[in-house]
Amino acid sequence: MCGIIGYSGHRPAVPVIIEGLRRLEYRGYDSAGVAFVQNRELSIIRAPGKLRELEKKLECVNVSIATSGMGHTRWATHGLPNETNAHPHRDGDQRIAVVHNGIIENYLELRERLGAKGHTFVTQTDTETIPHLIAEGLKEQGDLFHALGWALAQLEGAYAVVVVSAEEPGVVYGARKSSPLVMGTGTGENFIASDIPAFLPYTRDVVFLEDGELVRIDANSWQVFDAATLAPVKKTVQHISWDVQAAQKGGFKHFMLKEIFEQPRVVADCLAGRVDRCSSAVRLPELDGMAIPERLHIVACGTSFHAGLWGKLLLETWAQVPVSVEIASEFRYRSPLVGGRDAVLAISQSGETADTLAGLRLMKERGVPVIGLCNVVGSSIAREADRVVYTQAGPEISVASTKAMCSQLTALAVLALHWGEARGVLGAETRARAVAELCSLPDLLDGALPAMRERAAELAREYSEAASFLYLGRGHCYPLALEGALKLKEISYIHAEGYAAGEMKHGPIALIDPRFPTFALALDDELLPKVVSNLQEVQARHGRILALTNEGARVTADDVWNIPRAWGPLAAFPALPALQLFAYEMADYLGKDVDQPRNLAKSVTVE
Ligand code: M6R
Repeated sequence: MCGIIGYSGHRPAVPVIIEGLRRLEYRGYDSAGVAFVQNRELSIIRAPGKLRELEKKLECVNVSIATSGMGHTRWATHGLPNETNAHPHRDGDQRIAVVHNGIIENYLELRERLGAKGHTFVTQTDTETIPHLIAEGLKEQGDLFHALGWALAQLEGAYAVVVVSAEEPGVVYGARKSSPLVMGTGTGENFIASDIPAFLPYTRDVVFLEDGELVRIDANSWQVFDAATLAPVKKTVQHISWDVQAAQKGGFKHFMLKEIFEQPRVVADCLAGRVDRCSSAVRLPELDGMAIPERLHIVACGTSFHAGLWGKLLLETWAQVPVSVEIASEFRYRSPLVGGRDAVLAISQSGETADTLAGLRLMKERGVPVIGLCNVVGSSIAREADRVVYTQAGPEISVASTKAMCSQLTALAVLALHWGEARGVLGAETRARAVAELCSLPDLLDGALPAMRERAAELAREYSEAASFLYLGRGHCYPLALEGALKLKEISYIHAEGYAAGEMKHGPIALIDPRFPTFALALDDELLPKVVSNLQEVQARHGRILALTNEGARVTADDVWNIPRAWGPLAAFPALPALQLFAYEMADYLGKDVDQPRNLAKSVTVE
């Protein structure tokens, strides 16, 4: 939800900011803008649409002198995605500019108050209130730093803001509350951004900012303060191991494709140090000393929720821990019955999803231990959880989540083995087999992906005229059916519904006709005969079927797609990239914007 970057250093700022925004564009892309100070004048340039529209505009402006400034790429919450509503926003005197990610909940009230003092507003955004409020603070407090503290104290809601002003050229301020913001510290240059990839080519030294902190950077120094008291806060610089390569496309047409093809490595990285192929030992040192919960409540959204549904099956089978899985936006607004020995597992790639974070906080308030299963190191969920297990998938840029889910499945399998062994309910044979099979997945996937992509492309062309799809699966394939449908709809804009195959006859069967294809997850497992019966029900209504199955399985369908077999529930691992590739090839064939689908954003930091 909106990407922001601030820079102060020795380089021309605008190209650095644009490059940073390109790496943040996954967070929002309906308009973009930059602000910088040149000759003590504040300049703001904005454009609706993607970043390239802003770049076109910048070609006609001399921006070479500024060595500090900031930029924003927007995912609209208040007001249409047009130039007027694009960030940065400024005060009436055009001395202060602000970019913002989040929602100011009391902006109408603030507008009214400021309006009474003579401020006029030209946009429909909540953000525009902030520079006006700071300008008012400047009158009362005398300097920008104190004005900022004064203004922040009056904002309700969620924000990450970056501020520049003609009053202090070369200085950039940032502050956060419930929206992500990190600082990058370089030599003779410093950065503030929504996410690390924004400044990755320049520095890997990062300071994670906490809620309620205010940061001031210039080219040669940085300082963090408590936003409420303005007292300095001591922070540590952390060196992160991601490289620039990981945040680039590396020869692939889209990030999504690159990330699908990274899955063999993702499984290997997630297992590294956690399972030992020779001894079959499983370790999750992150959970050392933590009691095994009597019941586990998984809370997540979107793809992470689907991973949770899959994990439930393993946790209940291997660890015999009863598990409930709930969509975070529902969980947070009811009064969940959570017992004294229960625990919560918050699954989130970004670690910033507002609803999941709210679920986590609700549980922490009740004293329930929370484990975060996150990809982004230092993210809010990772920091606020009592324990964190990192999925170690590396940066996921494509809005459609792919490799993150693969890493979540891997981590959930390890967790189930870990608890199963600790509780003494997992047979040594099952553990040894599971470890061996998990360790063989990277090679299996590596060998399978190229042919899988070819078949996905063929089938996507064949089914490209479908307006709707039904995805069916049973058992551990049911969460995959949900995920396949989500992937297809979010990037190809073809309507798709995931259903438990056995539930089809209770309603969706009414939709079946020759123009409404069914994507069946018909893997060769113990539930296959049941799935086959469901497919016969589809065929009896002249429905067309594309069946994802395994060589030799007794499945009759209009199109059969054989994928490699994997042991037991691990069969999900080769099935997942097939679903992802089908959606990818379909979206690409239909000419859709694969990495940045309309109306979406990578990290959903608003509820
Ligand atoms: O970062 P998170 O895992 O918390 O994100 C949850 C969902 O927003 C995310 O999985 C979303 O559904 C993806 N666009 C799916 O591809």
